[in-house]
Amino acid sequence: MRSLLFIPGDSEKKLAKGIDSGADVLLVDLEDSVSLENKKEARRVTAHYLKEVADNANCPRIYVRVNSFDSEMLEDDLNAIMAAKPHGILLPKSEHGKDVTRLDSRLGVYEAENRIGDGLTRIAAIVTETAIGTLNAGTYGNRSQRLSAITWGAEDLSADIGSIKKRNSDGSYRDIFRHARTVTLLGAVAAAVAPIDTVFTDFRDQDGLRKECEEAAIDGFTGKMAIHPAQVATINEVFTPSQEAIDRANAIVDAFHVAGNPGVIGLDGEMLDRPHLRRAQVLLSRARKLK
Ligand code: COA
Ligand code: MG
Repeated sequence: MRSLLFIPGDSEKKLAKGIDSGADVLLVDLEDSVSLENKKEARRVTAHYLKEVADNANCPRIYVRVNSFDSEMLEDDLNAIMAAKPHGILLPKSEHGKDVTRLDSRLGVYEAENRIGDGLTRIAAIVTETAIGTLNAGTYGNRSQRLSAITWGAEDLSADIGSIKKRNSDGSYRDIFRHARTVTLLGAVAAAVAPIDTVFTDFRDQDGLRKECEEAAIDGFTGKMAIHPAQVATINEVFTPSQEAIDRANAIVDAFHVAGNPGVIGLDGEMLDRPHLRRAQVLLSRARKLK
């Protein structure tokens, strides 16, 4: 998953636009983009949409962002949407890997009730929306087979810690948010799931979006969430491994193979050891999955 496009779950008009958006995943939102009065309607619209697009081969995978455990609305959300078989659930304000385990067991019950294959519903989690969540970003390994990705959020963290500004005047994130971003990347890799970068909210600023995507890709994120369809093409482009990168990775794998798989080789005047080989293999596996 390179691009994950948020769509408010109460907007039939925007939901209709999601199908041809080019996004790898649609994140249909029942949480922050839906007012309290509209929660019920959003559940109804979302369930209807899921059923409607189920047979559409062009439709991206759909994860529903439910409300957090703390909100006490999560069970109502699951009750309303699980019969419509979403591909996954995006859990906001996750504070520990145990929250994923807790969601995992609830999903098991809904799958049984709705005749969905056991374990088919995936989970992604937003892990830095509270101070405690950020401190626990390294706790997501071996919590659930369903976990496919973790990502981070700056808005709610900012509210939780009472920070006034998220970015410096040059556009870079202030330290606390860079920390949240870093622990998400490390936490995802440690848990062997996809590290996904957070949204870029200034949806008219294409240059700023591209720069943030490129920095994320350089650091090791494999995708980014979007809030507007106009962001999807750039995200897909930046997070698709280039032909040049694929060729180089193939050359590295081949060179190790030809040399009899030693610890270290020289290629084009460069020393390459096992971490280089592993990085090349990871890139090739990601490129294969995108096909
Ligand atoms: N998904 C699908 N379609 C979207 C969309 C989205 N996330 N955001 C905008 N569109 C549609 C609009 O409905 C509009 O359609 P139209 O041309 O048929 O009228 C078109 O794309 C252009 O939209 P635009 O006028 O540029 O933006 P807007 O002012 O209508 O909407 C936002 C701006 C931010 C309100 C909107 O992009 C949005 O709702 N984003 C998602 C918010 C969200 O889910 N947040 C939670 C996670 S942080
Ligand atoms: Mg939020």
